[in-house]
Amino acid sequence: MALRTLITKNPLRAAAPLASRGLQTFSLPDLPYDYGELEPAISAEIMQLHHQKHHQAYITNYNKALEQLDAAAAKGDAPTVVKLQSAIKFNGGGHVNHSIFWKNLAPVRAGGGEPPHGSLGWAIDNNFGSFEALRQKMTAEGAAVQGSGWVWLGLDKEFKRLVVETTSNQDPLVTKGASLVPLLGIDVWEHAYYLQYKNVRPDYLKNVWKVANWKYASEIFEKENP
Ligand SMILES: [Fe+2]
Repeated sequence: MALRTLITKNPLRAAAPLASRGLQTFSLPDLPYDYGELEPAISAEIMQLHHQKHHQAYITNYNKALEQLDAAAAKGDAPTVVKLQSAIKFNGGGHVNHSIFWKNLAPVRAGGGEPPHGSLGWAIDNNFGSFEALRQKMTAEGAAVQGSGWVWLGLDKEFKRLVVETTSNQDPLVTKGASLVPLLGIDVWEHAYYLQYKNVRPDYLKNVWKVANWKYASEIFEKENP
């Protein structure tokens, strides 16, 4: 009994495993193209603000929340650990989603806007009827997202099929199903288009297809669906 009391009262016992765990924080990834290279579909001004200000803010707040989580967990502060979950989901989701989004876009000179060929092209035809049908479906569902969010083409690895899903705020696609892998996501937050398209989200959605990077989506599809 005395030994048990000694162990449970020793604060180092709970903290030790955490103390040996390194905390990894995140930094803003470079874009694989210049800010102006997606014009006229997306202006350089939007791209620069979106990347340097919005994405950076998600990373800054994600790192802050992770540091607070690490400190709270080390202290065994359960209420604070729970309280931090929404900030981690929102800001971590913002970092995850934007890191994918930059790769989902490409300048026309680098193949932006070229429809997918190969196995992803076939899978799109099989799942949606045609590439044009997929484009219309994602455009319509993206336009219908209430408030801020994303529209995704994803691979459901469990059922081996393609799906179109929307997520709210900065929820990543995986929140709609553990077996979902994002292939192509379109940011429909106002910060992604307002400076150029004002309130006309459908015009942005029409033009973003002109710089969609289907080479990247195909690479992920072939890797995840061998
Ligand atoms: Fe965004």
